[in-house]
Amino acid sequence: MRRSIVHEGATNLKYEIREIVGVAREIRSLGQTITWENIGDPVEKGEALAPWIRDILHELLELPTSYRYCDTAGVLETRAFLAEAVNGREDGIQITPEDIIFFNGIGDAVARVYGFLKREARVLGPSPAYSTHSSAEAAHSGYNHVTYDLDPYNGWMPNVDDIRNKVKYNDSIAGILLLSPDNPTGAVYPREILDEIVAIAQEHDLFMIADEIYTHITYPGYPRMHMSQWIQDVPALAMRGISKEYPWPGARCGWIEVLNRTRDENFNTYVNSLLAAKRLEVCSTTLPQMSLPLVCGNGRYKRHLEERALMFSKRADEAVGFFGGCDSVIVNKPGGAFYLTVMFKDGVLNDGQALPIENRVVRERIEALVRNVSPDKRFVYYLMGATGIVVVPLTGFQCGHAGFRVTLLETDDAKRAWIFRTLRESIDAYVGS
Ligand SMILES: Cc1ncc(COP(=O)(O)O)c(C=O)c1O
Repeated sequence: MRRSIVHEGATNLKYEIREIVGVAREIRSLGQTITWENIGDPVEKGEALAPWIRDILHELLELPTSYRYCDTAGVLETRAFLAEAVNGREDGIQITPEDIIFFNGIGDAVARVYGFLKREARVLGPSPAYSTHSSAEAAHSGYNHVTYDLDPYNGWMPNVDDIRNKVKYNDSIAGILLLSPDNPTGAVYPREILDEIVAIAQEHDLFMIADEIYTHITYPGYPRMHMSQWIQDVPALAMRGISKEYPWPGARCGWIEVLNRTRDENFNTYVNSLLAAKRLEVCSTTLPQMSLPLVCGNGRYKRHLEERALMFSKRADEAVGFFGGCDSVIVNKPGGAFYLTVMFKDGVLNDGQALPIENRVVRERIEALVRNVSPDKRFVYYLMGATGIVVVPLTGFQCGHAGFRVTLLETDDAKRAWIFRTLRESIDAYVGS
């Protein structure tokens, strides 16, 4: 090319959760049976959409209006329904239907939200990080994502002092991102921590982003709060979607709720640019939006959410139980979502460890793959070769700690028990090898 056509941020586009699929497919072609534990798709793991939700979707298929384009911001009746839900929350701030913008999933919203930020304006996000956010933020700036630490020795809670210092000494930081419940840790933040982060945003005139895709999968006993209830007067974006809740990830349907939009002219102009960009592609998927008032407004939805949250809470207890007494790892019980992060304690891993792999071809391929990889990726590759279980290395989540993320999605009870038992046995065998 006479001019480079590669964007400065191109090398920052990493998504380990899916990149490991290529390696796993190769290992499968060599004879290993694979158990996919890398991706957070409940449907892929066997969860069926509730019959009453399917009935609603069937009815929508009969309506001619389901097949049209909709307003750029989204179906007006749905936005009115969602705004009313926000306005009905206890102690929450108020919004209007104009404060809601639909996207083709949060993934699409993330690309827009970071893509239309001024290049020098950075968003400080958690580490470990969910790659869609961290990669998009890094790609927009052309530098590595700026992060604050989640503390594995304190239930993966945000290190608020770290946030305060990074904000104070890096004036390019314009916003703070948080996910609660978090991916990959499943941590749910208590009100006090949220208030401290809000105070930092207020003091330094920042905006905030909360990814709320798992907020309706908060386990019993943990605080289930929406950003509109704790954000006070800070301009902010709450991101929501139906991928994990219905669950219907293939719908590609998510939205942002713009909070305190008129409190800052610059923020308002920025939000208008998000809508203007969406206008260029007309609108997002119509039918899933039309389903929202019918599904979420249905008397059965509350129970549906409660039952799923309880189910994942029980699975989390069960999974954590398998790591009891294991000195090599830190395992914090999640308070929401459907992931479990297993972290290796410092110094536990080295590059001489291995797991026995019977199939010679698989073994040789794994031995070739583990040259020059991070210590946790080495474990993950050996685990794949020896047991077929595919998890995601923690260092793939923009994180300095070694470990891996596994899901709580397996619907077959016996298989789920096998997965966690095998993980525990593999850790013991690998560390002791
Ligand atoms: C924290 C988080 N946000 C967003 C998404 C993707 O959402 P969507 O399917 O709406 O693009 C995921 C998917 O795993 C996620 O874990």
